[in-house]
Amino acid sequence: MYGHVAEHVGEDGRSEPAGMALWFLNFSTWTGRHGVYLEDLYVRPHLRGHGYGLALLRTLARICVERGYTRLEWSVLDWNTPAIDFYAALGSTSMDGWTVRRLDGDALRALGSR
Ligand SMILES: CC(C)(COP(=O)(O)OP(=O)(O)OC[C@H]1O[C@@H](n2cnc3c(N)ncnc32)[C@H](O)[C@@H]1OP(=O)(O)O)[C@@H](O)C(=O)NCCC(=O)NCCS
Repeated sequence: MYGHVAEHVGEDGRSEPAGMALWFLNFSTWTGRHGVYLEDLYVRPHLRGHGYGLALLRTLARICVERGYTRLEWSVLDWNTPAIDFYAALGSTSMDGWTVRRLDGDALRALGSR
C-alpha cells in the first residue's frame, strides 16, 4: 500500500495536511501490465476547491506514465455526485457493464474454511 499526502501552506507559512491518496498496484492480464488502483482520495473540507485533489491524481497519473502502467482506476459510490463530477472533469470514464463483487463476513469464512 502506498500513500501521498498533499500539504497546504498557509499565508502565515504554517503547513497542514490538505488531503491524501491511498493506492496500490494491480495487474491486468489483458494488457500484461501493472496499473494503479486508487483505494481512497480525500481532501479536507475546508481545503476543497484549491486543486489538491487534482494534484494528488496528477501525481498518480505521472507515476503510471513514467513506469509504463496502463491504467489508473478506482471505484466511486453512485450517490457521490460531487466526486463523480470531479472525476469526469479529469477525462475519466465509467466502466459500465462491470459490477464490483465482494466476499466478506460469514460468506468469506465459509468459503475459506471449506
Ligand atoms: C472529490 C475531492 C477529492 C476533490 O478534491 P478537490 O481538492 O476539492 O478538487 P480540486 O480543487 O483539485 O478540483 C480539480 C478540478 O475539478 C473540479 N471539481 C472539483 N470538484 C468538482 C465538482 N464537485 N464538480 C465539478 N467539478 C469539480 C474543479 O473545478 C477543478 O477544475 P478546474 O481546475 O478547472 O477549476 C474532494 O471534494 C473530496 O475529498 N471529497 C470528499 C471525499 C470523496 O468523495 N472522495 C472520493 C471518494 S471516491
